[in-house]
Amino acid sequence: MSSQNPSLNHDKDTVHKPSKEFSSKARISSMGAYRKLYKESIEKPNKFWAREAKELVWQKPWEKVLTWKAPHAKWFDGGKLNVCENCVDRHAAGPRKNKAAIIWEGEPGDKRVITYGQLQKDVCRFANVLLKNGVKAKDCVLIYMPMVPEAAIAMLACARIGAVHNVVFGGFAAEAIADRLEDSGAKVIVTADGGWRRGKVVALKPVVDEALTKSSQVTRVIVLNRCNNSIAMEPTRDVWWHDEVGTVSSKHIAKGFDSEHPLFVLYTSGSTGKPKGILHTSGGYLTGTYSTCKYIFDMRDEDVFWCTADVGWITGHSYIVYGPLANGVTQVMYEGAPNFPDFGRFWKMVEEYGVTIFYTAPTAIRAFIKAGNPFPEAHDLSSLRLLGSVGEPINPEAWNWYHKYIGGGKCPIVDTWWQTETGAILISPIPGATPCKPGTATLPFFGIDAAILDDAGKECKAGEDGRLVIRKPWPSMIRSIYGDKERFKKTYWSDYAGGIYSAGDGARRDKDGNFWIIGRLDDVLNVSGHRLGTAEIESALVSHPAVAEAAVVGRPDDMKGQAVAAFVTLKEEFVESENLRDELRNHVGKVIGAIAKPDDLHFAVGLPKTRSGKIMRRLLKELVCTGRISGNITTLEDGSVIDSLLRSIKR
Ligand code: WT7
Repeated sequence: MSSQNPSLNHDKDTVHKPSKEFSSKARISSMGAYRKLYKESIEKPNKFWAREAKELVWQKPWEKVLTWKAPHAKWFDGGKLNVCENCVDRHAAGPRKNKAAIIWEGEPGDKRVITYGQLQKDVCRFANVLLKNGVKAKDCVLIYMPMVPEAAIAMLACARIGAVHNVVFGGFAAEAIADRLEDSGAKVIVTADGGWRRGKVVALKPVVDEALTKSSQVTRVIVLNRCNNSIAMEPTRDVWWHDEVGTVSSKHIAKGFDSEHPLFVLYTSGSTGKPKGILHTSGGYLTGTYSTCKYIFDMRDEDVFWCTADVGWITGHSYIVYGPLANGVTQVMYEGAPNFPDFGRFWKMVEEYGVTIFYTAPTAIRAFIKAGNPFPEAHDLSSLRLLGSVGEPINPEAWNWYHKYIGGGKCPIVDTWWQTETGAILISPIPGATPCKPGTATLPFFGIDAAILDDAGKECKAGEDGRLVIRKPWPSMIRSIYGDKERFKKTYWSDYAGGIYSAGDGARRDKDGNFWIIGRLDDVLNVSGHRLGTAEIESALVSHPAVAEAAVVGRPDDMKGQAVAAFVTLKEEFVESENLRDELRNHVGKVIGAIAKPDDLHFAVGLPKTRSGKIMRRLLKELVCTGRISGNITTLEDGSVIDSLLRSIKR
C-alpha cells in the first residue's frame, strides 16, 4: 500500500507530554487515569455510555442501553429525547441564557453574537416555519447554505421537529444536489441567495434552481437573503426566510423522539457508485459527540471553541452544531476563506474573541506555513490552550509548526481520527494525559475497541500493517446507508465475521500501542481532508461527450495531502488539446464541484487493463507517484499502452 502518512518513519520522534499546567486542570489528568477509565469502559461499555448519556436531558428514560444484532445497533432503546432541547433549551433555561452560543463573523467583516436565549427563539421560529410548510417528523429537508448561523439554526430546527436533515456542502454543484435530493427524497430545501468567499459572492440559489430542473419532488425552497445578489424566485415554490419567520411564533415545545429516531443523513464518497447517505440517529449520536467534546476537547463553560470546518461535512455537524452546543460552550463560526483578506484572518479572530480551543485540518496548517510566520506572529494567540487536527494524518512538519507558532509551545494537540460513519472521534489523545507523537492519533477513546487485523482476522503485532477495525458497537456509529441496507452490510461489516466494523483505513500500531493511520485501502482519495471517490470523478469525466474512458488515481501533494490525477482516452473524432484539457477539468467541477477537479489530466491512447478488462489503477498510481512503471505487468492485456502512458505524463 502506498502510504499517505509521511510521518511513519518518525516513530522515534520527540514525544510531547502534556504540561503540568494543562494536566492539573484537565478532566483526565494522567495516563493512569486514562487507562483505568478505558479498561472499565471496555469491560463494561454499557455502564460507561449510560453514565455519559445521563448527562443529557431525556424526556423518557431508556429501557436498555444497547441492543446489538450485528450490524444493527439500538442505543438507549425505549428512551425519548429532543436533540435540539439538549443543545439549546436546557442552556436557555438556566444561567447560560445570556451566554454567547455562536459568535459569527461574515467574510466581509460583519459580526453577530447569538446568545443561547436568542438561539432558542430563532430555532423555534424556524421549526414553526418548517411545520407551516408541511414538514413532518421523519421527512427529509435538504440544506444547502453558506457558513452562516442560519445553517445551524436550520439543522437544529429539523432536529427539533424530528425531521431528518441532509446538509449538502455549499461547494457542490447542481448535479451533486440533484443526486442527493433524489436519494434522500427531500421535498423542502433551505438555501441562501449566496455566500461570501474570497471577496466574491458565490451564488447558491441558482445552483439549486439548476438542480431542480431535473426534479419535481421539491415543493418548497426557503431562501435566506445573505448577499443581496440577484436571483430568480419561482412564485409558487420559493419563499424568503425573513418573510417566513416574520409570520410565526418564537415559541415551540420540543417533544421527545425515540432515541433511534433518524437525525440526519450525510452523503460521503465510497469506492464505487454514487455517494452513500450515511444515516445517524438521535440519542447515541448526541451522547458520542457530547462525550468526545467533554473529554477530548476538555470543554469548560469558560471555553471559546472554534472548529474551522464547514457544516456541510461531518466535522461541522459533530463539532460545530451538536457536540459543542450540547456542552453549552461559546463558539466561533466564520463564513469565508482562511486567506481573506490575507492569511492573518484566523489569527486576528483568535485574538479578538479569545479562542481557547482551535480545531482545524492539516491541509490548512500547511497553507499557513507556506504563507509565512509573520501572520500568526502579528497576533496575540495566548488565549489558546488546546489545538486539534482532523481529516488526514498530520505530517511532523505541520505538527511542529502548529505546536510552536500557534500553540506557543504550550498547547497539547489532539490528532483526532474518525469518519463520517463513526459520527464522533474514535481515536485521539486525551489532552491532559496522552503523550503525543507527531503523526499518530494515539489511542482509542473510552468504549472504543479499536484494533488492527490482518487478512485472516488475526490481530497484527506492533509495526505490522493491517486493517483498522472497531470490534464493539459505539453510540454514534452509522446505523445504515440511507435506503440501502445491503450496501451498509457489505461495505463495513463483510471483511470479518462477528460484527466487526471495518473502517477502510490501513494502519499499524507502534510498541506503545499508538495507532498510525497509513491511508485508505479502497479507491477513495483524501484531498485536503475531503473524501472523493475515484469512481465518482471517473463517471463525471465519461459524462463528457469527448471522453471514451477515464481512470482516476491519487498522487501525493505537499499542500492537499493527495491530488487528483486523471487519465482519459478520447473518442475517435476528438483530438487532444490544452483547451479540451481545461474543458474536461471544468466539466468535473460542474458535475461534482470545484474540490473534485483533477489537478493533472493526462490524455492516453489506452488505459492499462487486465485481460478481464479491469483497469489496473495500481500501475497508474505508481506512474503518477514515481514517473515509472516497474510493477508486475504480466497480466496486462496490451503491453504497448505502458509506453504511451509514460509519454503522456511527460507532456
Ligand atoms: C477518513 C474519513 C473525520 C472527519 C473528517 C473526515 C481520514 C480522518 C484522520 C486522522 C489520519 C484521518 C481517514 C478516514 N482521516 N481523520 N486524524 N489521521 N487520517 O471525514 O470524510 O468521513 O473521511 O479521513 O482516512 O477514513 P471523512
